[in-house]
Amino acid sequence: MSETSGTSTGSPKLRAELDGVPTYKPGKPAAAGGPVAFKLSSNENPYPPLPGVMETTLAAAANFNRYPDMACTGLTEELANRFGVPVSHLATGTGSVGVAQSLLQSTSGPGDEVIYAWRSFEAYPIITQISGATSVQVPLTEGEVHDLDAMAEAITDRTRLIFVCNPNNPTGTAVRRAELERFLDRVPSDVLVVIDEAYREFVRDTDIPDGIELYRDRPNVAVLRTFSKAYGLAGLRVGFAVAHEPVAAALRKTAVPFGVSQLAQDAAVASLRAEDELLGRVGSLVAERERVHAGLVAQGWTVPDTQANFVWLRLGERTMDFAAECERHGVMVRPFAGEGVRVTIGETEANDLFLKAAEGFRKG
Ligand SMILES: Cc1ncc(COP(=O)(O)O)c(C=O)c1O
Repeated sequence: MSETSGTSTGSPKLRAELDGVPTYKPGKPAAAGGPVAFKLSSNENPYPPLPGVMETTLAAAANFNRYPDMACTGLTEELANRFGVPVSHLATGTGSVGVAQSLLQSTSGPGDEVIYAWRSFEAYPIITQISGATSVQVPLTEGEVHDLDAMAEAITDRTRLIFVCNPNNPTGTAVRRAELERFLDRVPSDVLVVIDEAYREFVRDTDIPDGIELYRDRPNVAVLRTFSKAYGLAGLRVGFAVAHEPVAAALRKTAVPFGVSQLAQDAAVASLRAEDELLGRVGSLVAERERVHAGLVAQGWTVPDTQANFVWLRLGERTMDFAAECERHGVMVRPFAGEGVRVTIGETEANDLFLKAAEGFRKG
């Protein structure tokens, strides 16, 4: 067989950058067959879809022989009104992680650098490496918060993008207005800062800034939001960015065509219209978060202040044992081996089981 015939014994050539890309680890599902089993491992919303949102979504299913509206017209108009931003400053995607991937595709490639705190959202190293750019990971402070001074010092001529995850996944900690503004003032105007606000609706500390306010007069700031958490649409995959026009336009160019299904678009619009009810549920989850946090502190744990729908316990070498103990109690949590455990705030019953597991573990 000649070399030119198209048949050879080697495998197709893949980009070298893909070697060693870490695999995204989804949170473990609740164990089937156990007496009680709750999934507290993926920061999902434990409430089932609202009946009205469900009806709208099912109605959209009647037309799934058709492609969705590629421009997400209804959704972007609704978002533009809701947030007081021009439609041209919005870009949607298959979850905010899809938009994050487009942000990298739009800004970064081989030879470029992407800065983010570590530990933070586990997709950042994956999507950075896939883009061919180099990750620059800046350790969190002792208090598990972004070290914005160290991040500013890590900027070089090669920096293209900086993620600030606020509140941070998996620690729940958030950076405050004055320090974030000071940081943004230090970042060169040709470097894009992406404030990832996947958990924004759970923030109660009024000193944690709203990224959409910070973006308005800063052309190099983009904000990521999602319908997966507070709005409870994780399974439908829809998120968006608010960014100034050249960046938002680049995101629309790099997005997967027709990536956001009509079901997702219609569900997102219905959710924005049912926001009072959905944010009421968020309020209940925040109350549960405070109860769980206080319960852990009363048991003697050190728990960073959390502004998200999860808590973080730094357990080091005991991480996997702790996760196993939780599983025995019927709750799946998200362990990061050798570091700590992230536990999503779920149903009251699930949170009680988690508190019981934590107490038992502490007493040894
Ligand atoms: C900080 C952060 N950003 C983005 C996402 C992505 O969410 P989605 O793609 O469902 O919008 C997550 C999900 O866990 C997250 O924790």
